[in-house]
Amino acid sequence: MIFDSHAHYDSHQFDEDRFAILDTMPETGVSGIVNCGCDIPSSKMSLDFSDKYDFVYGAVGFHPGCIEDYKEGDLDIIKELSHHKKCVAIGEVGLDYHYGKEFKEEQKELFIKQIRLANEVGKPVIVHEREAFSDCYEILKAEKPDKGVMHCFSGNKETLPLILNLGLYIGVGGTLTFKNNVKTVEMCPLIPKDRILLETDAPYLAPVPLRGKRNYSPYIIHVAERVGELMNLTTEEVLKITEENAKKLFGI
Ligand code: NI
Repeated sequence: MIFDSHAHYDSHQFDEDRFAILDTMPETGVSGIVNCGCDIPSSKMSLDFSDKYDFVYGAVGFHPGCIEDYKEGDLDIIKELSHHKKCVAIGEVGLDYHYGKEFKEEQKELFIKQIRLANEVGKPVIVHEREAFSDCYEILKAEKPDKGVMHCFSGNKETLPLILNLGLYIGVGGTLTFKNNVKTVEMCPLIPKDRILLETDAPYLAPVPLRGKRNYSPYIIHVAERVGELMNLTTEEVLKITEENAKKLFGI
């Protein structure tokens, strides 16, 4: 069964058919989905989906890309939401310098606060890092999240051991299947079998041969196949270990 450790069914791209799609998940082999929050409304939606569907779990947090919307007091709301019985993580949180470094200091400060919150409430952090590896690594090393995952890990075989030494899991998604993505292909077989998670980041990052389409959890099968080739496992074995790993990390 497929466990999708990172998705955004709250995205406006699912406005037309969100529930029709979620209804079909069990029959398409999906046993679990973690819907990640990026701000207060999407965090609340993640928990609403988890109330409606047994197989959906919620993560709540503030994405670095939403830093401009962040207001004093929002972290108290995130903390309150984290007490929901199906909230399994704080996320997604982290650093993203892709669209400029204008709010770099604000991003760092909020990332640190959310790691501390995760440790305080005893939940893993789901970390987003884009073009900010060294700052992200320094913060993780200093703040020591008790548990967590680097979502859609964009590192390489040199940076992988740094993250593994922090005890974090490695999220692998559609980017593994992209043509030219040599570094992820080289890194993937080096991930210990008990530390890998699969994810879509739906609606984004659909794997080859569906690249460019709206992504959703059943498409993970293409990522699982590629991981299997690289790790010398069958697709079924990949799905089984990644489901077990996700359940362990998220306490399901
Ligand atoms: Ni995401």
